[in-house]
Amino acid sequence: MQVNSSVPFIQMEKIEFGYKRSQRIIPGVSGSFWCHHCTAIVGANGSGKTTLGKLLAGILKPWSGKVWIQKESTTQLRLGQIGQRVGYVFQEPDRQLFAPSVREELLFVARLQGMLDSAVEGKAQQMLAEFGLDHVADSFPHSLSRGEKQRLALAAVLMQEPGFLILDEPTTGLDKERRQQLTEHVQTLKAAGVGFVIISHDDRFVNNNADRVLTMSGGEIVDDSHP
Ligand SMILES: Nc1ncnc2c1ncn2[C@@H]1O[C@H](COP(=O)(O)OP(=O)(O)O)[C@@H](O)[C@H]1O
Ligand SMILES: [Mg+2]
Repeated sequence: MQVNSSVPFIQMEKIEFGYKRSQRIIPGVSGSFWCHHCTAIVGANGSGKTTLGKLLAGILKPWSGKVWIQKESTTQLRLGQIGQRVGYVFQEPDRQLFAPSVREELLFVARLQGMLDSAVEGKAQQMLAEFGLDHVADSFPHSLSRGEKQRLALAAVLMQEPGFLILDEPTTGLDKERRQQLTEHVQTLKAAGVGFVIISHDDRFVNNNADRVLTMSGGEIVDDSHP
């Protein structure tokens, strides 16, 4: 998709959020995220990384403040519209796999978005090869290994060619070789202009991929560095 790289792709403005009224998890956080960049979010378990990622992807809506995706507020965009701009891969990829086969998983959303069958099938075939899923193309997604599910979830999100990707702990369940391949995917997509937020406690993966590292503690960004 066409992007203007001088303006942030996603902006958060004083966002405040909690799962229940009595417990505020994100106390009012601001920040900007650009295309062509990879921002890692690091921090201890429970520091609010996943919650912030879901707010950025419009899956959760802030109590107050705004998340802007290309200047439009996530409270005004439908999830389908957001999915064409921002792809999100869950920490537990099981949660986003629902088709009867791996191939169908790749075809489903793109068809829903009105892409031509011939174009969709060609692209799905290319994804199967690129993500090493050819041999399981007709398998039930939930029967795959953790790493295969992770790759399928990413490939399915990429079918929509979003301008920005949010990946929550993407190296969980990946061996060294697959981690290296994921780094190559990230670098290729980034060179093509895609922006990333990668939530990870995998130091080596962060060092290899991040242009910027945000550290979270108690729901706040306590450090913003460019290594
Ligand atoms: N669905 C939920 N309902 C209630 N509390 C939640 C939920 N998800 C996360 N939390 C709480 O929000 C806080 C931040 O969690 P999370 O964003 O998952 O952190 P991280 O990804 O950094 O481990 C934690 O205290 C966690 O217990
Ligand atoms: Mg998490």
